[in-house]
Amino acid sequence: MNTPYVHGYRPRESERLQDQAGTLSDLLRADTAYDDGSRVLEAGCGVGAQTVTLARRSPGAHFTSIDVSAASIAVAQDRLAREGLRNVECLRADLFALPFAAASFDHVFVCFVLEHLRDPVGALSALARALRPGGTLTAIEGDHGSVMFHPDSPGAREAIACQVRLQQAAGGNALIGRQLYPLMARAGFEALRVSPRMVVADASRPAWVDGFTRRTFIAMIEGLRDAALAGGLLDAERFDAGIRDLHRTTQADGVFCYTFFKGVGRKPASARASA
Ligand SMILES: C[S@@+](CC[C@H](N)C(=O)[O-])C[C@H]1O[C@@H](n2cnc3c(N)ncnc32)[C@H](O)[C@@H]1O
Repeated sequence: MNTPYVHGYRPRESERLQDQAGTLSDLLRADTAYDDGSRVLEAGCGVGAQTVTLARRSPGAHFTSIDVSAASIAVAQDRLAREGLRNVECLRADLFALPFAAASFDHVFVCFVLEHLRDPVGALSALARALRPGGTLTAIEGDHGSVMFHPDSPGAREAIACQVRLQQAAGGNALIGRQLYPLMARAGFEALRVSPRMVVADASRPAWVDGFTRRTFIAMIEGLRDAALAGGLLDAERFDAGIRDLHRTTQADGVFCYTFFKGVGRKPASARASA
């Protein structure tokens, strides 16, 4: 892994990823399905939060889900076994050094991984080598610059900015969603389409308020409290006030908006299989 994973691998982080995947399932993946018999590589599967939905939606496809963390792979394997999903093989592997021959897969799926990497174009190029010519890559990323909320609060924005700065210090990019098109283009993908997937969490969508605003987004910012204080980014009082204002957006008259970006591109049919 070429960048330390800023959110870490604690059990609470595993729950947060499950909450995120469950709540946003339709918004992010309703239009992702793979043909029977196709070979799909899921890169950076983590604890399998996306894997379960992918494998259920495409029961005739065969998934190979990899992650650099052996502990996460073990959790993913357990979860898939409990769900009775047999069309997934999980492996510990680094996406920059994939243990597969070139052109081994028809499709690649990568979600919330590029934002943690120092070299996202290198990652996309490594994944492209694993794809057959004409195969597709689907990438999903968030962008913390897309956050809007009511009531607005400079303090809440400061707390979110801590996450952006810490991720940047770790070599990642919490504002990567807006760059998906140019990054995928630089890695050589064609027929590219990037679409925004906007979460508007208000009282009419209590599942999004709880599952996304509270348990995914605010939980992520809260999880960085110690690092933000240790790094001198904010003092405890201001950080905690920012978190309180973020929670304020989950009340009946509050609104929290966030945009994810989903890119789909094709490896040129004319590419050499090993390129
Ligand atoms: C935010 S988690 C996302 C997990 C999953 N895709 C999801 O959406 O729930 C990022 C994952 O990328 C993995 N990762 C980071 N760098 C990697 C690398 N070089 N090769 C494989 N996995 C990597 C991390 O271990 C972590 O599990």
